[in-house]
Amino acid sequence: MPRIKIAPSILSADLSRINQEIKEVEKYSELIHVDIMDGIFVPGTTIDLEFVKKIRTKVPLDIHLMVHEPSNFYIKSFIDAGAYSITVHEEACKYPFNQIKFIKRNNVKAAISIKPATSLDKIKKYTALVDMVLIMTVEPGWAGQKFIEATMPKVRELRRLKPHIDIEVDGGINPYTARVAFENGANVFVAGTSIFGKSDRVAAIKEILKGLK
Ligand code: DX5
Ligand code: ZN
Repeated sequence: MPRIKIAPSILSADLSRINQEIKEVEKYSELIHVDIMDGIFVPGTTIDLEFVKKIRTKVPLDIHLMVHEPSNFYIKSFIDAGAYSITVHEEACKYPFNQIKFIKRNNVKAAISIKPATSLDKIKKYTALVDMVLIMTVEPGWAGQKFIEATMPKVRELRRLKPHIDIEVDGGINPYTARVAFENGANVFVAGTSIFGKSDRVAAIKEILKGLK
């Protein structure tokens, strides 16, 4: 299995002091997960491009676009803002190949995501091209939801099909559910509430890591 990566989701951080918040978790994070919502694919909105541009960190930014039909121009703006990886949703794009190819052409890691109710079959055709697959373990749109264990068979099947691909899980990840996802084959763990909801963020990450061996 590929390397374990922890990706704190800044959705649950104190956005008024985001750079200090990130600094606290930097040493134990392989990625910083940045949720972008458009109010169309998901009802809410959060931070925008201007906010992303103000993030200062040496940790790679993992941009999760919960966005309906992101255009090349839109995607490029996040690449210029410093994205290391960009995830698009299968359900949000008519031809996800177009977005994936555009991201790859710009030498950025590309990922495809599916919501809990979407079958893995919908994205099998992209797995040869993407660097990572994001299996949503809650409905996209909100932090602090309960992990949906019924998504685990998708993780297991994908790991069997692609032993070396990065499999990311996002939503309701805590020390216990991270362990469940890990046992099914996930290696990239997004966590918002279970890290930024704690006063000692480093201890929270260490607690998650403990179960991933
Ligand atoms: C939900 C977002 C997640 C969110 C996870 O739509 O994609 O990244 O921040 O938050 P927690 O870890 O609280 O479930
Ligand atoms: Zn996310």
